[in-house]
Amino acid sequence: MTETRRGCFLVLDGPEGAGKTTQVQRLVQRLRDAGRKATSVRDPGSTPVSERIREVLLDRRLPEMGARTEVFLYMASRAEMVVRIVRPALDVGLIVVCDRFVSSTVAYQGYAGGIDPELIWDLGRTACGGIEPNLTVILDLPVEEGLARARRLAEPDRIEAKDQTFHEKVRQGFLSMAEARPQVFAVVDASQPPDAVAEAIWEAAKRVL
Ligand SMILES: Nc1ncnc2c1ncn2[C@@H]1O[C@H](COP(=O)(O)OP(=O)(O)OP(=O)(O)O)[C@@H](O)[C@H]1O
Ligand SMILES: [Mg+2]
Repeated sequence: MTETRRGCFLVLDGPEGAGKTTQVQRLVQRLRDAGRKATSVRDPGSTPVSERIREVLLDRRLPEMGARTEVFLYMASRAEMVVRIVRPALDVGLIVVCDRFVSSTVAYQGYAGGIDPELIWDLGRTACGGIEPNLTVILDLPVEEGLARARRLAEPDRIEAKDQTFHEKVRQGFLSMAEARPQVFAVVDASQPPDAVAEAIWEAAKRVL
């Protein structure tokens, strides 16, 4: 069940290195410059418990984790973040901009990992207690480009280290979900320069702001 809340919940999602973290920061700044009250969160993470779960999920010393285990850990992390931060923020009318969300679990563990995407959407609704994004913007770019960008920053984490075929399925998964539900998704070409990507996200977000 989706509940109507005072605030607005925006998610930026997409494959590795697409520019999500960069654009979450830019979008929050732009919203504040426009006089709106906005905050950001990252998923998994943003609370002490969720950050601890994130460490387990991204730990390269644990390469053998099953996709089902991953799903439940992501959902546990998310449940905590939603109840502690996202729901209270929306209740007081904030715009919450989130770096990844349930759509990532659907893409990685669902489309690429072999678990039924519908099951993951259902678990997401349960974990988040009715909180759903007003809009999810998918930052899309070729897999190679994204991985190259991400690798300039840091050593690959446990998920990033998966093979090219896996990451191609992730990308196609994001595009499939966006195509299936155009009313709550937008796709932006993330291979453009950062300013152009920011502008495209702003145009898409206007739909729900
Ligand atoms: N539009 C862009 N063009 C070129 N480089 C970019 C662009 N956007 C971000 N970058 C650079 O690419 C790298 C990855 O960006 P960022 O961390 O924002 O991506 P991300 O999607 O959050 O990655 P991850 O999936 O690893 O969390 C950074 O070095 C960033 O400066
Ligand atoms: Mg990031």
